Amino acid sequence: MQVRPSTVPRSAGWEAPTPPACHPAWLGETSRWALAARGTVEGRIAGFPTNAFRSCLGLAKRAMADRSANKKERPELSRAAQAFQHEPVMATEVLEALALCPPGPVLDATVGGGGHAFRLLECRPEVTLVGLDRDGAALRASGEKLAPFGDRVTLKRSAFADLGKVLDSIDVGPLSGFLFDLGVSSPQIDLAERGFSYQKAGPLDMRMDPQQAMSAEDVVNGYSEVELARVFAENADEPNAGRIAKAIVQARPLYDTETLSELVRAAVPVRARRRGGHPAKRAFQAIRIEVNDELGQLSSGLYEAIERLRPGGRGAVLSYHSGEDRIVKDRFDRAATGGCKCPPRLPCVCGARPLAFLPRRSGRTPRPEEMKRNSRSISARLRVLERIETLGPA
Ligand SMILES: C[S@@+](CC[C@H](N)C(=O)[O-])C[C@H]1O[C@@H](n2cnc3c(N)ncnc32)[C@H](O)[C@@H]1O
Repeated sequence: MQVRPSTVPRSAGWEAPTPPACHPAWLGETSRWALAARGTVEGRIAGFPTNAFRSCLGLAKRAMADRSANKKERPELSRAAQAFQHEPVMATEVLEALALCPPGPVLDATVGGGGHAFRLLECRPEVTLVGLDRDGAALRASGEKLAPFGDRVTLKRSAFADLGKVLDSIDVGPLSGFLFDLGVSSPQIDLAERGFSYQKAGPLDMRMDPQQAMSAEDVVNGYSEVELARVFAENADEPNAGRIAKAIVQARPLYDTETLSELVRAAVPVRARRRGGHPAKRAFQAIRIEVNDELGQLSSGLYEAIERLRPGGRGAVLSYHSGEDRIVKDRFDRAATGGCKCPPRLPCVCGARPLAFLPRRSGRTPRPEEMKRNSRSISARLRVLERIETLGPA
C-alpha cells in the first residue's frame, strides 16, 4: 500500500523533507535519513539491533586504533600475503554501512588483500563472504588472510564484467550486501614489475589480471594521438591531454614507466609541474583505467550487484576519482528513482519503480585524521544504497 508523505508519523524518524511527492513511500519502507535507529513509514522498528551495531563499530574502531594489527596479529602470513596488507580505506564507515544489512551472503567484488573482508567477517558472525578479484596474487593473499573464517568465505577470480556469471555458478542466491573498493591496491602499485607506478622503473604493463592480453604498452604505442588525448581527458580529467598525447606519439616506441613518466613531466607546462602532485600521476591513472576497462566494467558490475540485493540489503562503493564517482552516483540515483523522469515535486505518473533508497544523498569522505595518516584515502568517496521491496504494478 502506498502512503502519502503527510501520513508518515513523526515516530518514523523521517527528517524533512518527508518522503518527497515524487517518491511516494511504500508502507514498511525505511526512512532515508534515520540511519542508526531507522524507522519505517509505520513507525520505528521495535528492537532494532542497536547493540549489534554498536559492538560492530567498537570492533572497527579498535582495529583502526591498532593500524599495524594485520602484521602483528598474523605473523604466519607468507611474505606475498604480507605485501598485500594495507590499512583498508574508510573501514569504520564501510562497516557502519554494512552493519545494517541482514544476515546472509555479502559480496566483496574487490577483495584485494582481504582488509575490509576480514573486519566485516570478524564483526558480523552471521554473514558469509563471496570475495572476487581479477588479480590472482590478490586472491592468494586474501585466501591466506581469511583462512581463519573457514567455509564462511568463497573466493573466485573474476572481473566485474563476469560477476553475474560467477555468482550464478556458485549458486549464491540473493545478496545481503556488497562492497566495491575501486582502483588498484597498494601492493599492485608498490611492485615495480607490474608497471603501475610513475615513480618506479618497470615495464609498461598495468594489467590487474596478468592473463589479459592488452597492456599499457599496447595503449601507449598503438593508440592514435586523438585516441590517447581522449583517454587522458575522459579517464582522468587531464587538462594537458593534447600536449601529452602529442609528445608520446613523437617519442614512441616506449617500453618502460620511467621514460614515460619523464616524457609526461617534460610535456606539461612548467606551472603545471609545480602544483597538484607528480605531473605524470593523472596520465598513468588514465592509461591504467583504459588497460583494465575500469569504467566500462564498473557500470555493468554495479547493475548486477544492485539487482541481486535482497530487500534491506546494502551496497557500499568506495571510489577514488571523479570519473568513477560519476558512474556510481548515476547508477545509485537510477536505482533510487527507478528512472523516473516526472517533474520534481509532482506525483510520479510514469510508472517508474524505485529499487533502492540512498541513506545519504551525497557521498561521505574520510575523516581528517584518516587522510593525514593514510594518503591513499585522500580522494576516497563512499556511497551507500539500501535495496527496498519493489511493490506495485510493473
Ligand atoms: C583497492 S583494492 C581492494 C582492497 C581491499 N578492499 C582490501 O581491503 O584489501 C582494489 C582491488 O580490486 C581489484 N579490481 C579492480 N578493478 C576490478 C575489476 N574490474 N574486476 C575485478 N577486480 C577488480 C584490484 O585487482 C584490486 O585488488
